[in-house]
Amino acid sequence: MSKKQVYIYKSFERFWHWMQAILIFFLGFTGFEIHGTYTFFGFRDAVRYHNFAAYLFIGLIVFAIFWHLTTGEYKQYIPTFQNIKAQLDYYIFGIFRNAPHPTKKSVLSKLNPLQKITYFGLKILVIPVSVTSGLLYMFYRYPTKHGVEAINIQTLELIAIFHTIAAIMLIAFIITHLYLITTGETVTSNLKAMLTGFEELEDEHKEEKMDESKLSTQNLD
Ligand code: HEM
Repeated sequence: MSKKQVYIYKSFERFWHWMQAILIFFLGFTGFEIHGTYTFFGFRDAVRYHNFAAYLFIGLIVFAIFWHLTTGEYKQYIPTFQNIKAQLDYYIFGIFRNAPHPTKKSVLSKLNPLQKITYFGLKILVIPVSVTSGLLYMFYRYPTKHGVEAINIQTLELIAIFHTIAAIMLIAFIITHLYLITTGETVTSNLKAMLTGFEELEDEHKEEKMDESKLSTQNLD
């Protein structure tokens, strides 16, 4: 099968991906200090940095939504159940037997069915829960200060639980993602693609051309 260098990740996409990775990592790092898991910056600064990174994260999300809608790239994330079992089998068994990848990557279909479902869940559930609970947490005021009764100490407890669960899910995602990065055609091919934009993929056009030439020789026969 012939291969070709294909420009698969556009510059905004790469910028968004890496900024998102850095911000989620930083929000997780400062967040778990706020939670009391360890001390690094000190509580006050951890809160200050967490809030600042949160505003950057919201700004990035706004640009990313705009980019995905205007380029039509959001369609890549529409979940499908087709090939999902094959993909699971591959990660559980095939990968250890050097089996070929069950789904082929292309510019129009960059994500395998498991990635589609996972990223879709992150985009419509985990990230919105994290951002909404984070904003509620941020704008919580002690009733004695501004008299906002709607967000009181009981609701804050619930908000904190939702925010922490979303944070744990995001950290679990990042850990799994780091492993899955290494499961491309080679150990580094996925990473290189997200850094440079280019990835070596099967040349679909060449296949089509070969099919066409086969057909025309058959017609001549
Ligand atoms: C726009 C997004 C976010 C906003 C607005 C936000 C806001 C906040 C605020 C205001 C707090 C409480 C600070 C305080 O006690 O004074 C907090 C805590 C926390 N944040 Fe975020 N955050 C966001 C995203 C994230 C993300 C992505 C993660 C993890 C990956 C995260 C992890 C945490 C954790 C673990 C805590 C401590 C929760 C607790 O112990 O109750 N946050 N966040």
